Amino acid sequence: RSIKSLATSPSSHILRRGYASEAVPDRKVAVLGAAGGIGQPLALLMKLNPLVSSLALYDIANTPGVAADVSHINTRSVVSGYSGEAELGKALEGADVVIIPAGVPRKPGMTRDDLFNINAGIVKGLCQAIAKYCPHVSIEILLKQALVNMISNPVNSTVPIAAEVFKKAGTYDPKRLFGVTTLDVVRAKTFYAGKAKVPVAEVNVPVVGGHAGITILPLFSQATPKANLSDAEITALTKRTQDGGTEVVEAKAGKGSATLSMAYAGAIFADACLKGLNGAPDVVECSYVQSTITELPFFASKVRLGKNGVEEVLGLGPLSDYEKEGLEKLKPELQSSIEKGIKFANQ
Ligand code: NAD
Ligand code: LMR
Repeated sequence: RSIKSLATSPSSHILRRGYASEAVPDRKVAVLGAAGGIGQPLALLMKLNPLVSSLALYDIANTPGVAADVSHINTRSVVSGYSGEAELGKALEGADVVIIPAGVPRKPGMTRDDLFNINAGIVKGLCQAIAKYCPHVSIEILLKQALVNMISNPVNSTVPIAAEVFKKAGTYDPKRLFGVTTLDVVRAKTFYAGKAKVPVAEVNVPVVGGHAGITILPLFSQATPKANLSDAEITALTKRTQDGGTEVVEAKAGKGSATLSMAYAGAIFADACLKGLNGAPDVVECSYVQSTITELPFFASKVRLGKNGVEEVLGLGPLSDYEKEGLEKLKPELQSSIEKGIKFANQ
């Protein structure tokens, strides 16, 4: 792979967001479900990312228009659109990061698990294609599969489905599969900053567990900057973070779930993956990954990202009694969502 210099136009300076080096490797990112509510703004944000040299936009329909539109933006990456299953292989070939926001969103009254029947099949099919087309010879001359960023719900089950599909194909590397839980962190930071009256840009809050209802466990006891919030305030913040997705689903009143904030969160996480691949130090984000930090086989926690994907799954750190209780409560639900995904994939 060639090393290219970034263009030094004023817009690329603005978008570079503090990268010191002028030399960045070529990186291909593929978005599957790119014409959807998340897919379109995510395609836009990935087009603005100077770490991306090639952006492949795939959907079952409507991708040519989205790709033509995004391709006119004068940033580094070359954009190509792919429509329909016959073009999926071309979209995936050579991808370093594959982001999957394909599938149906919730309507009011539904849980994320209610999406399982439709989305499990979509994810299974896409992961079979990833296993077929994505392993490629990397810079280090090893056969490696792309990093997969799973957004499609229910994430608690779709990630185990992906793992099983990759195992069957012989391409599974637990270091390269991620459930995207960044939106939970984004929400926890926003809600905490509002309540604690601290600058939102300075806030850090780990969110662990999974990505549905009580399986989302924000650790406000570890939030920084520190604030003296009451137990009642912490309980309310926890509940609002857990119900953040439902808050948007209800406000959209049947027109889908979070798309814009999710595109932002997805872009942050993909950027972290790319930085890790490129060897940037200290890239840490929360993500739902194969894990041994609890007895559950998949669990979201802070993860250090590196040249091979997951470099280290970080532990939970000290928990408050309230968080310890939340952790025990979430385990049965998360376990059953994991088992449901594994069972489906092996049917
Ligand atoms: P959407 O309906 O607006 O878009 C989904 C897109 O997927 C559509 O363009 C559709 O054509 C496409 N699609 C369907 N089947 C496909 C296939 N086999 N291959 C490729 N593309 C396919 O939905 P949305 O609002 O973008 O949400 C997408 C998914 O993301 C939902 O499952 C939603 O629950 C989930 N989501 C997850 C998070 C998270 O935090 N992880 C946040 C928000 C939404
Ligand atoms: C979210 O957290 O916004 C997503 O998981 C979408 C949803 O259904 O809530």
